[in-house]
Amino acid sequence: MSILDLKQAQEKGKVSQGTVFINVLPSIRTGKNGEFMVGQFLSQDGQFDFRIWEEEIFSTVQANGTGIYDVEVIGAEYNGFYFTVRKIEVCHNPEISKYDFLPSIPREQINQNWKRAVRKLNALGVSKDCWNLLEEIIKDPEIKGRFTTEGAAIYYHDNKIGGLVNHTIKMLNILAAMLENNPELLECADLLTFSIMVHDIGKVFEYEDLAPAKFWYANHRVRGIEFIANYKDAIIELFDETFYRQVQSVISGHHGDYGDRPTTVAAAIVHYIDTLESQTTGILQHMENLKDDNFKFGDWGFIEPLPIGRFKSVPEDSPEALEAYFTTE
Ligand SMILES: [Fe+2]
Ligand SMILES: [Fe+2]
Repeated sequence: MSILDLKQAQEKGKVSQGTVFINVLPSIRTGKNGEFMVGQFLSQDGQFDFRIWEEEIFSTVQANGTGIYDVEVIGAEYNGFYFTVRKIEVCHNPEISKYDFLPSIPREQINQNWKRAVRKLNALGVSKDCWNLLEEIIKDPEIKGRFTTEGAAIYYHDNKIGGLVNHTIKMLNILAAMLENNPELLECADLLTFSIMVHDIGKVFEYEDLAPAKFWYANHRVRGIEFIANYKDAIIELFDETFYRQVQSVISGHHGDYGDRPTTVAAAIVHYIDTLESQTTGILQHMENLKDDNFKFGDWGFIEPLPIGRFKSVPEDSPEALEAYFTTE
């Protein structure tokens, strides 16, 4: 059996067979007709919901846990699309591994974005010493280069290989705009850059290949502070203790109301940048995956997608040309 193209299979009533990957343990729910299983297949095209209604079928997943399976599915629709699994068994094909399924962000895109952020922040005064220390931290042998490969989340935003570094770099680009808009922040350019770079670094311990790691429950804020403590002396020597304590406050407080409350302005600013970046990425990924006319989002109910590709084209020299709105002196 070959890897199932879930995007192609995503059609109501369509029956398909192939190999799929379950990265996170599905949950069991109770409905009118007894228990059923709810889970997601992970593929290079993203996550796809599935359900298994009969216990004799989902018991295979309960017995074998996460991993690669051969399935027969049928497309179903009720409050959104999902696959109903009709047959499932463990895949024994030695030529297929989980790395064939993990979605990833193109390395070239990450590298270009990273260079752009560093260039902008250099021009705004971030010091060479600050970058050097950050480089040492992300190359720490304990994390085995995983800052640049792990995802930023399991669900919702940048839940792809390279997602953690991608999310972090996009935050650095937003920081650059904030520094330009608020010159009084420039004196803290090193502190804010350093704090953003390490705010989620503990995710390398919370996740492993886009799934919860063994000790996921000691969350990334706790693990980030623990990891950065290895660099306490180096940070204090280069900057001072205030800098080190401020960085700790950012790591612990960057989730705002959804974690320890921010205790410094730096933590509050990084929290706002984090929220802007992750929410924007999350909603765009959601829109991209669904391709529906409108879709349910969070507590807001139905929202309309961006009209990408739906603007009517206007002749370049016409007065309505969009350009004209931006180029009038
Ligand atoms: Fe975080
Ligand atoms: Fe974050």
